[in-house]
Amino acid sequence: MPSFANPFAGNVDRKMTNEELMQALRLDIAGELEAIYLYESHYLATDDPVAKAVLSDIRDEEKAHMGELVTLMRYLDPKETELFLEGEGEVMEELEELGIKTSGGIAPAPSEPAPAPTVGDLS
Ligand SMILES: [Fe+2]
Repeated sequence: MPSFANPFAGNVDRKMTNEELMQALRLDIAGELEAIYLYESHYLATDDPVAKAVLSDIRDEEKAHMGELVTLMRYLDPKETELFLEGEGEVMEELEELGIKTSGGIAPAPSEPAPAPTVGDLS
């Protein structure tokens, strides 16, 4: 958590190396994920339509920030990009094994998950 009382908490006395910048970006991404999680939980916890609209808009902006940071990491470290793409390829393979057509891109998941089995389903 940030230390807002200390105006120098986020300052450093030198420029970061690329490796340090990559570490900082990982921390920044963690902050974006935490923000997405919080805005989403607040969105789910209210029925006020204006609050829902504002919270979902902010949540989506945080998702865009995360995309920007990941893209910046891919620019700064091509080796890390290879690993990101490796992970993407593994998911694409799993989708293919499940018979889910990807047509070169990532297929969107169904909007509603399959209903969870209940105790009654066991009979
Ligand atoms: Fe953000």
